[in-house]
Amino acid sequence: MEPGGEKLPVAVTSPSGSSALSSSVSPAIEARELYRFYHVGDDETQALRGVSMEVNSGEIVAVVGPSGSGKSTLMACIAGLDEPDGGFVYINGERLTRRDEKTRTSLRARLIGILLQSGNLFDHLTVRQNVRLKMHLAGQRDDGRVSDVLEMVGISSRGDAYPPHLSGGEASRAGLAVALAPKPPILIADEPTGEVDAETEQRILYLFEEHRQNGGAILIVTHSDAIAKHADRIIRIEDGKILKGSR
Ligand SMILES: Nc1ncnc2c1ncn2[C@@H]1O[C@H](COP(=O)(O)OP(=O)(O)OP(=O)(O)O)[C@@H](O)[C@H]1O
Ligand SMILES: [Mg+2]
Repeated sequence: MEPGGEKLPVAVTSPSGSSALSSSVSPAIEARELYRFYHVGDDETQALRGVSMEVNSGEIVAVVGPSGSGKSTLMACIAGLDEPDGGFVYINGERLTRRDEKTRTSLRARLIGILLQSGNLFDHLTVRQNVRLKMHLAGQRDDGRVSDVLEMVGISSRGDAYPPHLSGGEASRAGLAVALAPKPPILIADEPTGEVDAETEQRILYLFEEHRQNGGAILIVTHSDAIAKHADRIIRIEDGKILKGSR
């Protein structure tokens, strides 16, 4: 995969084993015509109405839009935590939608670091144990990496604390440590800097930059100008649709 997101012609091997020249490698994330409807009583909310987008390796893409426009719904569908009512999601060329839960969980553990608004920490485990568990699920065991990642997000002094005892900003950073620990090829983050100060935001931006330079793909929902400015592309969502001209 090319840092910077350029697509170069590469030789790929087809499932039959023969070699073919393709005009591009698979995007890290590809969403095609996603639809998601919620029903509460007689009311229907059309949270996603035909959203298509992609993120390449080595690319940071920011998703912006008003509250209730469908950003978190999109992240949950792309991460395989929610199943869209229509459309497909491919991660590194592998289909994630309409697969059984075991397959989705394994794809997620191998390929995606996720930080959602609802949090990604288990309350009964300390911050350090949460990071260690995430690495274990990704098939990795490296206590040095656990300590390093806690240090990088500036939360080492709270490594032995339980999530309910953390401030909002500390919980965001701990969540980021969990998402980034196994160095996933893809990072999906829903407002990771919602509750952090400017200095911490810079530190998180630095981590994202490092991730991108290592060929990682980042899809991030944000209200932060600093982060949006740093992104390679900005996707604007309104009323469950991508605004024209924003891809
Ligand atoms: N579980 C649910 N049941 C019913 N409606 C839902 C559910 N989750 C979200 N919605 C509705 O779907 C729409 C999109 O919600 P979503 O959480 O994706 O918005 P958002 O863009 O992330 O907003 P915010 O910026 O406030 O986080 C909203 O109208 C919301 O009320
Ligand atoms: Mg949201």
